[in-house]
Amino acid sequence: MVTVITITNQKGGTGKTTLSALLAFALTELNKKVLLIDLDPQAHLSSFFIKPNDLENIEGSLHMALGQRFKIVKINDRLGIIPSRLDYMVRAYRGELPMTRPYAIDERLRRPSRLRMEPAITGRYDYVIIDTPPELYPPTIWGLYAADYIIIPSNLEELSLMGVRLLIKDILPDVFLYSKHEVKVLGIALTNITKRYRPETIEKINNAIVKFIRDKIPRTLHNRFYVRPLFKTIIHRHNELRDVVYRPRRWEIPISRIMRRNEELFNEVREFGKEVLDRETLFQHLQ
Ligand SMILES: Nc1ncnc2c1ncn2[C@@H]1O[C@H](COP(=O)(O)OP(=O)(O)OP(=O)(O)O)[C@@H](O)[C@H]1O
Ligand SMILES: [Mg+2]
Repeated sequence: MVTVITITNQKGGTGKTTLSALLAFALTELNKKVLLIDLDPQAHLSSFFIKPNDLENIEGSLHMALGQRFKIVKINDRLGIIPSRLDYMVRAYRGELPMTRPYAIDERLRRPSRLRMEPAITGRYDYVIIDTPPELYPPTIWGLYAADYIIIPSNLEELSLMGVRLLIKDILPDVFLYSKHEVKVLGIALTNITKRYRPETIEKINNAIVKFIRDKIPRTLHNRFYVRPLFKTIIHRHNELRDVVYRPRRWEIPISRIMRRNEELFNEVREFGKEVLDRETLFQHLQ
């Protein structure tokens, strides 16, 4: 059985893509096998690993969603990716993207989607990590409905936090009710924030989110959120990660090399991976 973790925040630029790559690295360091799925037609996550020109010839995440042949690109023994590509935007423009939930259910065959059935995935990987686009673009919805667990990256900028509230109040209740899986929110991950915030400030934000969930979500759905919504581990703003998604020849630089340049960053990322696994274990015991 694979565990599917979807990284999402409807606000753009909150660190979804960077966190997807970092979490994949952290889990592989913890000996897990990880498959990344890039659902964003902007293809930034794909370009961490594959030269953009080469992406044009790879049948990736949209092909998989459409029930067509697709390719898993192997990065190393423990990491693979189903990439995205820019021309998927054209297919969206032409109305060719399914509005249903192709990563949750195969409507045609009336069974769980290929994400849960395909031997190349289920036989080889422990975790699937899905990076989603900003906004409520169809692939964002596919990612939400495919998830066992959702992680919401945010910084402390007001619009990012509004994105978190919008997701909690207006989108997740539907996903909880209509998904084929018990979708749960593993937590909100503070990323790309400076170190100037005091622990008390962070606690205040956590408490405000707890209150928001209590006030805005039906009581029967409270158990879908991890008791402490904010992850303890914060991935701070580090120079090594600044503009990584735009860096020239980034596909030639393994994440491990970036991590080796900054021990503090490496430790944060490893701690974050451990916290993800701990939170998942706790959720399983609660069931
Ligand atoms: N911890 C960090 N330290 C420094 N820079 C970061 C960090 N995390 C992300 N960034 C930078 O912030 C910007 C936005 O990050 P990223 O592209 O991961 O966000 P996103 O949510 O995927 O954006 P989009 O909504 O456009 O898909 C990028 O330039 C990235 O390099
Ligand atoms: Mg992104």
